[in-house]
Parts: sequence; C-alpha cells; structure tokens
Amino acid sequence: MKKIAVLTSGGDAPGMNAAIRSVVRKANYHGVEVMGIYRGFEGFIEGNMELLDLGSVGGIIQRGGTKLFSSRCPEFKEEKYQLQGIAKMSEANVEGLVVIGGDGSYRGASALTKLGFPSVGVPGTIDNDIPGTEYTIGFDTALNTVVESIDKIRDTATSHENSFIVEVMGRDAGDLALWAGLAAGAESILIPEEPFDLDDIIDRMRRGEARGKKHSIIIVAEGVMSGGELARILKEKAGIHTRVSVLGHMQRGGSPSARDRVLAGRLGARAVEVLLEGGRGRAVGIKNHQVIDYDLEEAFKMKHTAEVSLYTLSKELSI
Ligand code: ADP
Ligand code: F6P
Repeated sequence: MKKIAVLTSGGDAPGMNAAIRSVVRKANYHGVEVMGIYRGFEGFIEGNMELLDLGSVGGIIQRGGTKLFSSRCPEFKEEKYQLQGIAKMSEANVEGLVVIGGDGSYRGASALTKLGFPSVGVPGTIDNDIPGTEYTIGFDTALNTVVESIDKIRDTATSHENSFIVEVMGRDAGDLALWAGLAAGAESILIPEEPFDLDDIIDRMRRGEARGKKHSIIIVAEGVMSGGELARILKEKAGIHTRVSVLGHMQRGGSPSARDRVLAGRLGARAVEVLLEGGRGRAVGIKNHQVIDYDLEEAFKMKHTAEVSLYTLSKELSI
C-alpha cells in the first residue's frame, strides 16, 4: 500500500487525536501517505479528506476531541453509500482505512472490508465496551474526570449532609460507573449489566445514617435510568431525599491521560502495521498489557461484559 486513510467515528473520546497522530507518523515512517477523512463515514461517502503530513499532526497529542471531527451517519448502513465511498477512495488511490471508533464504527469497517476495501478498527470510546480488548482509548481519561467530579461533589455532600446521585454516561455499558464507583468509594453503583436491588440501596443508606455517616453517593449509569428517575423512586419508596448531578458530555472532553496517549500511540501504530502486513477486517486491542489484533467478526460474536468481581468488591467495601 502507498496511501491509506484514517477517520474517527461515533462518540468522540480523549486520545483520538493521539491515535490519528500515531497512524500518520507510523505510516509515514514506512513511506505510506495518509489522508485524513473528515466527519467519519459521512466524509468517507463524500470523499471529504486531505493529506495529513508529519507537521499536520503536530501539537495534537494532548488535545481532547478529534481534529478530524466525528459524526453519526445512519445512511452508511446502506451498501449503496458504502460503495459510493469506496469509489471516492479509489479515485484518490486510497487503498486501506483505519477506523477509530466504537462497536458501531467497527460494523462500518467490517462492511467495507467485505466489499473489498481493507479496513482495520482502533477502539476509541469512553465506554470501554468493545469486545476483545481490555481497554479502549478514552476510558481512562473519562474515568479520571468522573472520579474528580465525584470527589468535588463529596465535599459539598459532606458539608450539607446531603446524599447525592451521580448520573454518568454508559447507555449499554457500566464500566465507567463501576470503576468510578470503586475509585470514589460510592455506596451503591447501578450498571446496565447487573440487576439492582432497590431495598439494598435503601438499606445501605439507612445503615450508613445509623452509623453517623453524613452522606451517601450513588452512581447510576444512564442506561439503567436517569438520576432524576432514581431520586424520585427513592423519595416515593423510602422518603429519602437526594440531590442529583448529571455529569453529561464533560465526560467525553479534556486532555487525554498519559495512559490513553500511550494506548493510542500503540494501537494506532499497530493498526497501520496490520494493514501493511495484509490484515483485512481486523481490530487492534490490548490484552495482558500486550497489543493484539483479531478478526472484527470475532468481536461481533463476543459480548462485552462488566467485571463482576469489581461489582462484588464495591459492595463489600461500601458496607
Ligand atoms: P460507535 O462507533 O461509538 O459505537 P455508533 O454506534 O453511532 O458509534 O456508530 C458510528 C457510525 O458507524 C454510525 O453512525 C454509522 O455510520 C456506522 N455504523 C454503525 N452501524 C453500522 C452498520 N451495521 N453497518 C455500517 N455502518 C455502521
Ligand atoms: O461515547 C459513548 C457515549 O458517551 C455513551 O456512553 C452514550 O450513551 C452516548 O455516547 C451518548 O452520545 P450522544 O449524546 O452523542 O448521542
């Protein structure tokens, strides 16, 4: 291959820029040119792209978001748009694609590969929910943002002797809620992967109160229910008053942590190698601290699961 392209797709994640930089620099190192496609698959369909040289990815390693912009592009599920994009790439002599995104974006990469356009996936999402890799780019930064926010909420919670519900992102995945809950010492954590017991949550709050605790922190992943909904239920069922804090999109922003930058550097570079080695329809990831690559189809067969031992541990530690 002499020319490849890179795009970012789906929800943005801190470290996507570091991954773009890694793709460009690694490819250039091997004498391969890289086109940066704007707005994910939307730009792929339109052929909206420009050459990224060594200098164009300078000064972005520390920046959150994505220099290439991102989008959700529902029409890309249709083959006619995929073929339209492939034609645009052929016109520009682009021979392969690195897709940085979540599992939806991986479906796009897989569809393109099946149509003969080699694509490789790099896991970029704060949700940490891509099967086959232990970590995704952006998770560590988002986790630290959430923990820092909860620490701050805890200060005011203690001062005013209030209990708080903190709603975090995670429509289908609870890693962010679970890890943040463990790191911030939350009393209860609600994640989409595990059924929750309302009586247990109420019990924990009451036991804490009886021990003289000034507040409780409950973390709920948005996929379970909204913080407001949970507050209403606690009030109606047990007369417990809580304040609600919805962290929202701030969780996706900010300068990537050192860990995310290193992960992005390693995975972006490996994705280029995989393409140049002739890998087709593959994803890169990390397992036991080692960079791996595996078939996208394998990823689709697996299901991301929350680490149940962390869930159990958090319950044991927040008695
Ligand atoms: P994420 O990649 O973060 O999971 P989405 O699920 O929104 O985010 O997917 C991002 C984009 O990937 C979608 O907007 C669409 O363009 C593309 N995509 C998702 N599913 C498919 C599919 N089944 N076939 C082709 N492209 C898809
Ligand atoms: O990036 C992943 C994610 O943050 C999910 O946790 C959440 O469900 C979704 O994106 C929300 O994204 P948006 O508000 O952009 O639709």
